[in-house]
Order: sequence, then structure tokens, then C-alpha cells
Amino acid sequence: MGEKIRKHQNRIINGIALLFLPLLLLLAVTVGGRFEIFDDITEEKAVQEKADQIVVGVSQLGSESGWRTANTESVQNAFTQKNGCFLIYHNARQKQENQLKAIRSFISQRVDYIIFSPVVETGWETVLQEAAEAEIPVILMDRQVDVEDDGLYVTCVGSDFKEEGEKAGRWLETELRRRGSAGGAVNIVMLLGTEGSSARIGRTAGFASVAVDHPNWNILEQKDADFTANKAKEVMRGFLRKYSDIDVVISQNDDMTFGAIEAIRESGRSVGVNGDIIIVSFDAVKNALEMVSDGIINVDIECNPDQGEYLLRVIDDLEAGRPVERQYYVEENVFTQENVTEELLRERTY
Ligand code: AHR
Repeated sequence: MGEKIRKHQNRIINGIALLFLPLLLLLAVTVGGRFEIFDDITEEKAVQEKADQIVVGVSQLGSESGWRTANTESVQNAFTQKNGCFLIYHNARQKQENQLKAIRSFISQRVDYIIFSPVVETGWETVLQEAAEAEIPVILMDRQVDVEDDGLYVTCVGSDFKEEGEKAGRWLETELRRRGSAGGAVNIVMLLGTEGSSARIGRTAGFASVAVDHPNWNILEQKDADFTANKAKEVMRGFLRKYSDIDVVISQNDDMTFGAIEAIRESGRSVGVNGDIIIVSFDAVKNALEMVSDGIINVDIECNPDQGEYLLRVIDDLEAGRPVERQYYVEENVFTQENVTEELLRERTY
């Protein structure tokens, strides 16, 4: 009996479905058609918009630091539709192979300009040659490349890393003199950024060029911490286990400084203006400047991530056929407790 009722119910359901089937088909065709038309329109619109705009492919090297996030935002804020640009952005997650892939994809998409921040200096020759053959101008952002033919890129917008390193050295010189300890032994450890990167190469060379005049500066050890807080914390713990008499930490970016300070505090030692260990940092992101203001970080050598506007101006010049320089350095400062003002902290967006 139950079986009979179920069969009867099924027949009713099938009947209803059959009755509505044409209606469902009609709906599917109409809606489907509409989607198709809608798709055509958006695609056409995108192509149209792209045609009216300058298409810029940006390969960012990663998102390893607060500085990098600010640099990405600066680029994204500059290359907007309002500014006549269509931005294709790619994050390479700190891997050169990803950057190479992204650049090749920009070439095959025939973008108008390629901008990239090279994670390391070497290994770009072939891909830059491919861009040149496709007649796509390449602009370097933030860091440099080491290629035989400089004509493979149009210009570079970024920092003078060697000068940043020198500024750190000069500041330390003056500070030790001020403390009356310029002649005694000064034990230094260095936390280095990504191996092979311009930021690390330049800052290391700049600092060394000052250190060479001070035979009493003992660089106990310098080690790679890849511009990240976690790695720096680990490396700093190792330094502290090995050396009981560290006077100065030169940390090549703020993120590494944050990690190092945690490790130093864990070890029971203090940092900063009134502390056991002098902290020299690079970048000057807002969190770090607050620590400068509080006397936790002694000095922060600014590295300016606001490069989007500079890049936009360069592209403007190129579009107008105006000549561009080989290198544009962004403006940068040195921050200590004396010049980190309330106003500066209020206005710092990163
Ligand atoms: O190339 C600039 C450096 O790279 C910044 O100092 C650092 O924070 C970033 O990761």
C-alpha cells in the first residue's frame, strides 16, 4: 500500500516537472542570454577602458614588511583609472621566479609599461631582453638590477641605499662622540636584509665605508634575517647567546628591529636611549617612529616607500616624449627622538 502511494506521489511530481519544463527552459535561455549579453558588454567595456588608458604591469617583490605594504599602496593609489591608468598588479612573494613569470605575462599581455621591484639584483638579463624586443619600456622601482646593458630599463625610482648606510654610520659616529665613548671598543652585530638585494648591498656598503675609519668598531657578526621580524628574532637570540657584550645592533629594516628588540628584552637586556644596547634601524614606518619617540629605537634612517607619484610622473613624461633621468632618488630623512614630532606621527600613514 505504502509503495503504491509513493509511486503515485512520484508520478504527480514528474507531471508537475514536465508541465514546468518549457517554462524553465525559456527562463534558462532568457537569463542565460542576458548573461551572455552582459558578459559581452563588460568585456567590451573593459577593452574600451583599457584602450583609453595606459596599461601598467607592476610586479611587486612581496609583502615581507610594513614598508613593502606601504610601497604597494602607494603604487595602487597612483595607477588609478582617475589618473588614466589600468593597473595589473602581481605579488611575487619574495621569489624571483614568480617575478620572472609575472614580467613574461605582462609582455604577452602587451602592457604599455612594466614596473618591477627586483627582489635581487642579478638574473634579469634575459627577461629584460624579451621586454626590449617587445618594445615595452621597463621602469625599476625601489631596487636596482645588475645588468651589463643599462639600456634594458628606462629609469629607476627608489632609494640611495648606500647613502642610507652611510647615514647610519655617521649617526653612530656622532652619538659615540656625544657619549664620550668614541675611542673605546664598540661591539656591533648586524641584521641583514634579503641576500642579493640592493637594500642589503647598499646599506652594508654604506655603513662599512664609515666603519672603516673606526678600528675600535668590532663587527662581531652579520647575519641574514631576510627583512622579517620572525627571522630577526631568531638570529638576535643566537647573537645574544653567543656574545654577552653587544653594544650596538644595526638592523637593516624596522620589521627586523621589532623582532630583535623582543629577543633583547627576553634576554633581560634593555634597548634605546637609556638602555644597554643602541638600536639603529632603517625604514621609519609609523610603529617604529613611535618607538623612536619613546626612546626605544635610537635612530631610524628613513627609506621612503611613497614612490607611486614619482613613477606616475615618469610615465607622464615618457608619454609626452619628455626626457627622463636614469635615476630618481626619493626624499629621505634621519629620525631621532629630537625630530619625531606629534605632527609627524599624526601624518604618517604607514
Ligand atoms: O627595498 C626596501 C627595503 O625592502 C625596506 O627597507 C624593507 O623594509 C623592505 O622589505
